[in-house]
Amino acid sequence: MGKTEKIYFYPVWLRIWHGINALGIIILIITGISMQSSLDSPLIGFSLTINLHNIAGVVVMLSYFVFFIGNMVTNNGKYYLIKIKGFFKNPIKQGIYYAWGMFHGQKLPFPLSEKRKFNPLQKYSYVLIMYIAVPVVIITGIALLFPELIIEEVYGFSGLFLTAILHSVMGFFISIFLIIHIYVASIGKSPVDNFKSIISGWHHL
Ligand code: HEM
Repeated sequence: MGKTEKIYFYPVWLRIWHGINALGIIILIITGISMQSSLDSPLIGFSLTINLHNIAGVVVMLSYFVFFIGNMVTNNGKYYLIKIKGFFKNPIKQGIYYAWGMFHGQKLPFPLSEKRKFNPLQKYSYVLIMYIAVPVVIITGIALLFPELIIEEVYGFSGLFLTAILHSVMGFFISIFLIIHIYVASIGKSPVDNFKSIISGWHHL
């Protein structure tokens, strides 16, 4: 295996999904935080903020179908499968590498290859985000757009209130993911190498 070997990890459909999704989620986070105060922000009015949030939400939902169906009908879905073997051991190994090993010249515990596109921690975080957090935020978002769909009371609590809390908590979780995601993406051959990969499609080993 030569040092400059590269793998075509990110097909066009995945890159288009990722770009639209990233932009949409960033707009959702900014407008979401701004809506918490229910005041006109210095830059844009409250009703424009809500409209932007709704439009970005619909765009993220539509692009999610591209991701979901794309992962079902192409090879990409296989990278998201989690095996029982090494379920705890592998992410711990990767965590130790991120916290200690990479600062001490340790070798990568899970080098990437045609068979392994993500290290165990990346895989777990992508599965949590793409198969739990984003779907929950989309479903609760649709419910908040059409509140008449929401059950009125759940164990004495307002269904609308619980839906809004779940929507905000997942939104917060996605925001934290995004910060860690961008930091981890900067760990590579050079700090910008992975960002170039998600644009060109090619990952340098
Ligand atoms: C400014 C925003 C973002 C940047 C700069 C960014 C950057 C990257 C980069 C460099 C990669 C390829 C390397 C890697 O896997 O770490 C990647 C992959 C990925 N990103 Fe992002 N990302 C952003 C936003 C997001 C958001 C908001 C989500 C989800 C909510 C997301 C989910 C993913 C997933 C699931 C992959 C792997 C796709 C696959 O190969 O199947 N990203 N991102």
